[in-house]
Amino acid sequence: MTSPVLSLKNIKKVYVMGESEFWALKGVSFDLYEGEMVALMGPSGSGKSTMMNIIGILDNATEGDYILRGENVSDLDEFDRAEIRNAYIGFIFQSFHLLPRLNLLENVEVPLTYAGYAPRVRRDRALDMLEKVGLADKRRNLPSQISGGQKQRVAVARALAMNPALLLADEPTGNLDTQTGNEIMGLFHKLNDEGVTVLIVTHEAEIAEQTKRSIRLRDGLLETDQVHKQVRPQLQGAQRQEAGLAS
Ligand SMILES: Nc1ncnc2c1ncn2[C@@H]1O[C@H](COP(=O)(O)OP(=O)(O)OP(=O)(O)O)[C@@H](O)[C@H]1O
Ligand SMILES: [Mg+2]
Repeated sequence: MTSPVLSLKNIKKVYVMGESEFWALKGVSFDLYEGEMVALMGPSGSGKSTMMNIIGILDNATEGDYILRGENVSDLDEFDRAEIRNAYIGFIFQSFHLLPRLNLLENVEVPLTYAGYAPRVRRDRALDMLEKVGLADKRRNLPSQISGGQKQRVAVARALAMNPALLLADEPTGNLDTQTGNEIMGLFHKLNDEGVTVLIVTHEAEIAEQTKRSIRLRDGLLETDQVHKQVRPQLQGAQRQEAGLAS
């Protein structure tokens, strides 16, 4: 039996604003296994981005344990957290986060620069990634000179630059027309076939249906965790019923 790539155990997150506090996550637990492609769903404000930021090690849980590849992320210092983030995780943000003064090639190079790669290696690698998303010919353009769907593809290229084992995408098709959305999903399927574990936040049922499993949050709690299409070998029969998974 394979062990999970990551394990979230009773994750809670509170946002403090002056006198008031808001519990965005109230105790969420689930595991992700290597090679899974999972949709994270739920109404606006249910805690999806908060969850993604914790999984992507961009933010800390207030309570609970986050075990990534056997290491408790909550126990690590900022240096180790940054190193793990850079080595294992590709993150695609809800709003692209491209740097406006850098051209597309330079944007894709950013994580490679942080990781200390030589300029020549960075260039080649970034160009490969832009080719993968079909934007090599626009490599000298600035983000302001391309369409929304193309920006999303640059964000995908940048997330792939470090060859992450885990790809986290927060609403990657949210602002896109159906065709461009399907192109992005096609890319994710290809990566998933190559062994990358993919977690996608989406509001769209059609997107979620293309994945193997959907996790649904509501008011900071896990509402459902359903496996579709494929049954994970770890969970079968009575175990699946026990876990409350639909057949
Ligand atoms: N920095 C913050 N400070 C205070 N409250 C916050 C902060 N970030 C998020 N929240 C609150 O936490 C809750 C969860 O937010 P989150 O962004 O995780 O929702 P979401 O499920 O991603 O929503 P959406 O689908 O609209 O993107 C919301 O009620 C939100 O207002
Ligand atoms: Mg969100």
